[in-house]
Amino acid sequence: MEALFYFYRMKAIILPEKNARPSYVEVPEAPKSEGMEVLTVMACALNHRDLWIMKGQYAGLKYPIIPGSDACAALGSKRVVLNPGLFWGADECVQGKHFQILGLPLDGTFAEKVNVPAENIYPAPKHLDDMEAAAIGLAGVTAYRALVSRCKPVPGERLLVTGVGGGVALFALQIGLACGLEVHVTSSRPEKLAKAIAMGAAGGVLYSTPEWETKLKEQCCDGFDIIVDGYAGASFAKLVQLARPGGRIAVYGGTGGKMSDIVPQQIFWKQVSIFGSTMGSQTDFAGFLALVNEKKLKPVVDSVYDLHNAEAAFQRMESQDQFGKIVLRVSGK
Ligand SMILES: NC(=O)c1ccc[n+]([C@@H]2O[C@H](COP(=O)([O-])OP(=O)(O)OC[C@H]3O[C@@H](n4cnc5c(N)ncnc54)[C@H](OP(=O)(O)O)[C@@H]3O)[C@@H](O)[C@H]2O)c1
Repeated sequence: MEALFYFYRMKAIILPEKNARPSYVEVPEAPKSEGMEVLTVMACALNHRDLWIMKGQYAGLKYPIIPGSDACAALGSKRVVLNPGLFWGADECVQGKHFQILGLPLDGTFAEKVNVPAENIYPAPKHLDDMEAAAIGLAGVTAYRALVSRCKPVPGERLLVTGVGGGVALFALQIGLACGLEVHVTSSRPEKLAKAIAMGAAGGVLYSTPEWETKLKEQCCDGFDIIVDGYAGASFAKLVQLARPGGRIAVYGGTGGKMSDIVPQQIFWKQVSIFGSTMGSQTDFAGFLALVNEKKLKPVVDSVYDLHNAEAAFQRMESQDQFGKIVLRVSGK
């Protein structure tokens, strides 16, 4: 972001340093580089990652940084979305050593323009408006890989999604329903459980109440074929307990920190598989987008803020009051 080298300037949100609040500033536009396209951002969306970066709790920190991994943007006359997982590499099983996520270390989408590798750009689903299209990328591909590519669900199986108010979790609910699964959820708030049930979840419990796993066991006495979890922490041991024999658990996040007190017998005797899952390859993203288009899936947009008001959007994510994606409206083409 060295002013001397560039001519055009643009509005953007920057995180100036560790623990500093997001700031709306004018910065030089990055020039187009080989293999990259410059997109004109119409809308972008927050992920928990942006908050971790703001708080300095993320690997490979660098400041100042323009955060943001998701966007609905214009490329010439085309309306596009992007796979925020860049340079995945050749192995579908795991990302290669050049893999990175848009928005750190490369500047991200919380700006009027963003530079993105051409291979990561896809047509925006026609049934989604700009705010909805901006909301699908990172959370959607993460949920798709964790649930579909890693756990390989079979219609009729029973799925548990933890913390359904989260961006990835809500997509896991929607994708699970689209795959013909019976989906149960956990959340901290009764109103979020009610919304998930209105969307098609078969039931749910509040993880904020004691003995929540016993209540869940009462609802689903023979347990879950698949569990998709982004919290981990001490409660992960309860998820292992809730898995059916032969069950699969996908872990995509670690908001709750280290897992503890897992009873090994509940893993090996039940032949439970635990899959780590991160973001998604181009194959995952294309598969996710095909599902979105085929089933006409619409992301749940919690709220929309103007770009200059990003601070309020960050606050909303910190509050955990959201149900679905928090979107930023950028000035348009
Ligand atoms: N590996 C990857 O590629 C990848 C990709 C995306 C995200 N992540 C990680 O996954 C996590 C979630 O990301 P996000 O963007 O979806 O976050 P988000 O939209 O901010 O949602 C976080 C959610 O965590 C849930 N939660 C909080 N405490 C919980 C608990 N004790 N048990 C179960 N759930 C709990 C809450 O659910 P309720 O609101 O229902 O209470 C909250 O909404 C973050 O740690 C993020 O860094 C990883």
